[in-house]
Amino acid sequence: MLRRLHTEQPESFAFTEANLAWANEQITKYPAGRQASAVIPLLWRAQEQEGWLSQRAIETVADMLDMAYIRVLEVASFYFMFQLKPVGSVAHIQICGTTSCMICGAEDLIAVCQEKIAAKPFDTSADGKFSWEEVECLGACTNAPMAQIGKDYYEDLTAEKLADLLDRLGKGDVPQVGPQNGRMGAEPLGGITTLKEYVNGAIKLSTSAQLADEIGDTVKRIDGTEVPLRAPWGDQSGRRGEGVAAEQPPKAPEPPKSAVQQAAAKKAEDQASSEESPGTRPAALEAARDGAADDLKRIKGVGPKLEQLLHKLGFFHFDQVAAWTDDEVAWVDHNLEGFKGRVSRDEWVKQAKELAAEV
Ligand code: FES
Repeated sequence: MLRRLHTEQPESFAFTEANLAWANEQITKYPAGRQASAVIPLLWRAQEQEGWLSQRAIETVADMLDMAYIRVLEVASFYFMFQLKPVGSVAHIQICGTTSCMICGAEDLIAVCQEKIAAKPFDTSADGKFSWEEVECLGACTNAPMAQIGKDYYEDLTAEKLADLLDRLGKGDVPQVGPQNGRMGAEPLGGITTLKEYVNGAIKLSTSAQLADEIGDTVKRIDGTEVPLRAPWGDQSGRRGEGVAAEQPPKAPEPPKSAVQQAAAKKAEDQASSEESPGTRPAALEAARDGAADDLKRIKGVGPKLEQLLHKLGFFHFDQVAAWTDDEVAWVDHNLEGFKGRVSRDEWVKQAKELAAEV
C-alpha cells in the first residue's frame, strides 16, 4: 500500500511546552552526533499530540534532530504505526490479517469494523471517532486474532468482543488491554502449567499491560494530564536538576572529522567571518561561567546542533540571550549558519528571559 503525505496539510506544527521538554529529554539519551536515534519517539509524541503526522510535524522533528526531511519522512512512511492522514479522534483500529489471525477469525473482526466504523479502511465513522485498517502480523500470533488500538494490543478477540470494545471506547471507557479471554500474556488457554509458585493467580496482567491499566493510558492521547515518563536522568519538569546531572551517561567523544569535512568547516567559517553582518555582535564569553552552561535546548527551537553553534559563538547562558537587543538579535539571526532567522522566529529573547528567571 502506498503511504504518502495527506493532500490537505495544516500550516504549522509545534510541540506543546510539556511535549517539547519531553522531546528534548529524549534526545539527551543518545551520544553526541547520534540524536537521529530519537526520531521514532519524537514522531510518536507528535502523533499522540495531534492524532496523525502532518508534513510540518515531520519537518519539525527533522529540524530538532538535524536530519534531512526525506530521512524522517522515510521513517514515518515505513512504519504502519504512524498515520499520515487524519484518523478517528478516539482510536484507529489496526486489525492483523496475517495467517494466524486470519485462521482464527480476523475476517470477522474486519466485518465488525466495516459495519460499525466504515466500509472502507481509513474512512472515519460518521461521528468521526473511529477509523480502521488491516495490517500485517503484529507479533502476537499466539493470541490471535488481535488488534492494535492506540498504544496497546487487544488480543484473543471475537467479533462480539471487538464490537463491545468499540462501544465502550466510544463512550469514553478505557477497556483493559491485553487478552480479552482472561488469560495472562501468552500462557496456555487451559491455564499455566509451570512456575505456578511464582504466579499463583496473583498476577493478572503482563508488566506493560499492568502499567497501562493503572494509569489508564492506552487510547488516550497526550493532553498534558498524563504522568510524565522521563529519561532516568531528567527530573519531572523535563529540566536537568543539579541532583540528576551527575547521573547523566558519559558523552561519547565527537567522531573524528575527515580531511574533507575539516576543509569544508574551515571554508564555511572563513566565509561567515568575511561576510558583512547586519546588527551588532553581542558580548560573548570564552567559556561557560563556572564551567556549567545552561541547557540552551530548553529554548523552543534550539536543538543540539544549534546549541553547539551558540557555544561556538560564545553564548552559554539564558541571561546572555535574554539581554540581546534588537540590533544584536539581527546579528545572531544572520550568523546562525543553516538556521538563519531562528532567534526572532522563535522569540528566543522572550523565552530566555523566562528561563533566566527560573535559574
Ligand atoms: S498473525 Fe496476527 S499477530 Fe501474527
